[in-house]
Amino acid sequence: MVPDEVLAPPRAAPQFIDLLAETVDPRGELTAALLKACASIPPKYFYDRLGSRLFEAICELPEYPLTRTERAIVDAHVHEIAARIGPGGVLIDLGAGNCEKAERLFGWLAPTQYVAIDIAADFLRDRLNVLAERNPQHSILGIAQDFTQAIELPEEVARGSRVLFYPGSSIGNFAPEQAFSFLQRTREACGNDGHLLLGVDLVKDKRLLDLAYDDPLGVTAAFNLNVLRNVNALLGSDFDVGDWRHIAFFNEEQSRVEMHLEARRAVTVRWPGAERAFAAGGRIHTENSYKYTPERLRETLKRAGYKWVAMYTDDAAGFAVALAGA
Ligand code: AVI
Repeated sequence: MVPDEVLAPPRAAPQFIDLLAETVDPRGELTAALLKACASIPPKYFYDRLGSRLFEAICELPEYPLTRTERAIVDAHVHEIAARIGPGGVLIDLGAGNCEKAERLFGWLAPTQYVAIDIAADFLRDRLNVLAERNPQHSILGIAQDFTQAIELPEEVARGSRVLFYPGSSIGNFAPEQAFSFLQRTREACGNDGHLLLGVDLVKDKRLLDLAYDDPLGVTAAFNLNVLRNVNALLGSDFDVGDWRHIAFFNEEQSRVEMHLEARRAVTVRWPGAERAFAAGGRIHTENSYKYTPERLRETLKRAGYKWVAMYTDDAAGFAVALAGA
């Protein structure tokens, strides 16, 4: 028996606000996307609990170096980044995922509050509970939100200068014009004294990019196919994963990796109020991952209203971390 007084007091779970119900109705959005002439599924639907875990597995793959390269760049320049930002701001993590990237900054930025925003509500809640155990001294707020439409920060977000953190090249999942408007919204959310810390994958050899999104273990294929299960759960559709195959390639002209699901045979998919027939070889476009040049990235940030931009890259110039000041 352990005496009561040596047991640690139970820790309160971090504050969590679910704003998903206030944003887009997934059924309307998915139906519209699936019924377009070129059927698509918005990539945010990859991230149910399993999809989030599969994405973590992708980040471990030797063929997908983005996460590791970004970490190495941040580690190499973190004292300069922290000096430019200054301590004691509110760290706002857009698309927080497992929150690991932001946690590595805690010691350097000493944030007064950590705000983790993600569309994967269950996954985020799980990870924040673990994070709070490890970091009992930090104030942590979780927000389940689709911030791709609008960045709405509720009043529970502390006052003070803001550091918006958008790592992992998620900006690449927006088309260029959407990326520009998104960056304008981050600029607004930064206020007059905030910063944006942004990770962006750069244009490189097509063979490397093809492999990064079509790995021989088939982890990315599983990640892509799993979106059909999430769509079935959200829409009540009857996609059979076995009817589809994963396709991914770098489209050099558009400077983007495209992911599609291709029908192995003729299939008709049904859901309440609608159906869609696909011929064998018919495709559903599931993701674009745009690759930038450092020049284009700098120019886009300036155009979005940022006053200055510092850019850090790895030796092979495969990935860039940009720090932009409002
Ligand atoms: C989250 N996002 C930046 C990843 C990417 O590289 O576009 C998602 C991903 N898709 C396939 N592999 C990883």
